[in-house]
Amino acid sequence: MKKIKIFDTTLRDGEQTVGVSLNPYEKLRIAKQLEKLNVDVIEVGFPISNKEDFFASKLIAKQVRTPTICAFSRLIKKDINVAYNAIKYSDKPRIHTFIATSKIHRDKKLKKSQEEILRMIYEEVSYAKNLGVEVEFSPEDASRTEFDYMIQTIRTSIDAGATIINIPDTVGDSLPFEFYDRVKKVYDIFSDEFSSGNLELSVHCHNDKGNAVANSITGVMAGATQVECVVNGIGERTGNAALEEVVMNIETKRKYLNAETNICTQELYRTSQIVSELTKIEIPKNKPIVGSNAFCHESGIHQHGILADSNTYETMNPVNVGWVGKKFAFGKHSGKHAKEYLLYDVLKT
Ligand code: KIV
Ligand code: ZN
Repeated sequence: MKKIKIFDTTLRDGEQTVGVSLNPYEKLRIAKQLEKLNVDVIEVGFPISNKEDFFASKLIAKQVRTPTICAFSRLIKKDINVAYNAIKYSDKPRIHTFIATSKIHRDKKLKKSQEEILRMIYEEVSYAKNLGVEVEFSPEDASRTEFDYMIQTIRTSIDAGATIINIPDTVGDSLPFEFYDRVKKVYDIFSDEFSSGNLELSVHCHNDKGNAVANSITGVMAGATQVECVVNGIGERTGNAALEEVVMNIETKRKYLNAETNICTQELYRTSQIVSELTKIEIPKNKPIVGSNAFCHESGIHQHGILADSNTYETMNPVNVGWVGKKFAFGKHSGKHAKEYLLYDVLKT
């Protein structure tokens, strides 16, 4: 069975949510919980962006031992040095470096030619690699980049020493089959390296059209062995793929996907609560896995079914995700079964 690594970017891409700002000690608290959740990689921040992020990244690199500790960096030596100085204390340090590759980003934002970008990738990825850390490369806006050029950027980063290749759907543009197609083609082109275990394929999906989780799962089906995601699905604009949803899709469909994660799923609810409390972003009631309605039933027919066998209306056991909440709600759709059950429960105690 394929092991899917969970790369958590709550502290970097998640913190880019409008209005969210975590201080270093809040970041450390979340990182410690992510360690309990047993994520494989924590992207701790973008150390060049501000002093607090540098300090927080360093604090986490010193105190959180089990996961890989990753810092985000532009393809610029100064950024790479600062990222390195923040996470060098980790036993498993990683630099995640990126540059936009799509035509619109090249022409309008970077004002750089394809060749200039390829030269930068080779030079800066080699530089990061020579610092002695693992290097992940992302062609930003990959899903809107001309396919052949995207492959050239990936090939150049591999030649320069990158060992993790991430395919971001930066603006959440793709349909699930479209994303599958792109990731599968990348997998096929570098299949020898991916199957030898020397190279890792990663996906990173945004939720602008509500496809982030579905796209991440099709990425896994296409050969990705790392998924980048964020607790509660927070992040820029409409957010990133929600970690708890990605994990439970994989865990409940292990056989179909022939894949599993290392996540301690019983910690999902608690992690969600901590992130919500510290980011001050409320969890919608109907949020899959961790919302207060996720395993709560009001209609009489459903209550009857749940009391007979919870599998009638639940495909996950709430205990397995550490969910704490009300099992039944009473309203105009409720029936006698849950009322009797509640009465019996009250009388029993
Ligand atoms: O969405 C994105 O493209 C990112 C990076 C992986 C560049 O956050
Ligand atoms: Zn992103």
